[in-house]
Amino acid sequence: MAAIELRGLTKVYPGGVRALDALDLVIPDGEFFALLGPSGCGKTTLLRTIAGLETATGGAVVIGDRDVTGVQPGARDVAMVFQDYALFPHMDVTDNIAYPLRIKKVSKNDRRDKAAEVGARLGLEHLMDRRPGQLSGGQQQRVALARVMATQAQAFLFDEPLSNLDARLRLEARTFLKKLQRELGVTTVFVTHDQAEALAMADRMAVMESGHIRQIGTPAEVFQRPANTFVAGFIGSTPMNLLDGVVRGDTLEVAGCKVAVPAAAEGRLSDGGKIVYGVRPEYMTYSAEPADGALGGKVSIVENLGASHLVTLDVNDVNVQAVVPEGSEPAVGDDGYALPRRDRALVYLDGELV
Ligand SMILES: Nc1ncnc2c1ncn2[C@@H]1O[C@H](COP(=O)(O)OP(=O)(O)O)[C@@H](O)[C@H]1O
Ligand SMILES: [Mg+2]
Repeated sequence: MAAIELRGLTKVYPGGVRALDALDLVIPDGEFFALLGPSGCGKTTLLRTIAGLETATGGAVVIGDRDVTGVQPGARDVAMVFQDYALFPHMDVTDNIAYPLRIKKVSKNDRRDKAAEVGARLGLEHLMDRRPGQLSGGQQQRVALARVMATQAQAFLFDEPLSNLDARLRLEARTFLKKLQRELGVTTVFVTHDQAEALAMADRMAVMESGHIRQIGTPAEVFQRPANTFVAGFIGSTPMNLLDGVVRGDTLEVAGCKVAVPAAAEGRLSDGGKIVYGVRPEYMTYSAEPADGALGGKVSIVENLGASHLVTLDVNDVNVQAVVPEGSEPAVGDDGYALPRRDRALVYLDGELV
């Protein structure tokens, strides 16, 4: 087991795409670290550069206390699970799991024993003689995990390993994988474009945008205090309201309404300054009656979220969303008022959290 440290890591592909731009990151030993970002932001490149499958253009990769920047992938002692599992179709489950051990010249008997042990741990014992084509997606995914576990590497690198599973299996696999990582205590970098997955699984996480890390923190920190409007817009199953506003003395003018300055920004704004006001739909108190500091308008859309509803208000031509508990949702065309929670609302100045 080992910590992973990236120092000014840069990757420019031939042709000029700067996929990683001087990244600094320290992942402590044993941490489950999620790397989140939109497609094309550099997540796969980052993992492949840690694994040594891509050569860094600049900077260093340190695993444990060893600088592995110039070291061949096979000698870095990390194991990677790819998005498509990359199982060998002509090999049975045992041989697929044992393959990395064969490369390491482990004896046939020891390989079989290890494959059986890891396979049993992942509930594959009755499937060991099957080939990948005879397995469900979830089972194939477990074989890919078993293969990684059998290697006993210093670190696990996962590149969107759950993205080929259907929604239900995905949730199961998420819980399972998290539990397994806890038990094994192996430093893990888990790449995903699914913010719910990152929030649910990670000890800490980073949000990436075009080759840069835009925020590092615990899931709670990233969810409650996104460091900039990019992260604010990216995180959350219902997107955060990000509304243009102007500072007016000790209040804010937002969508033509007067709202209170959020607690965190109090005393830190200058009169007349332009800001972006951020508040999650979950942190709104909704009412059919006017209230001081509320954003008032007409209900334009009501979406059923199951145990709650997402209500969109047209507030002077600006869309404002609020989550409303089941049973108290309004009808389209009603007047409605969304009162932001002052302890949860945020202010962004030039895109950065105040
Ligand atoms: N082999 C390659 N050659 C040139 N450009 C690449 C190559 N692989 C990825 N890229 C580019 O690098 C950027 C980051 O890609 P990638 O790491 O795959 O992002 P992600 O995994 O976040 O979707 C993208 O602009 C992509 O087009
Ligand atoms: Mg990718």
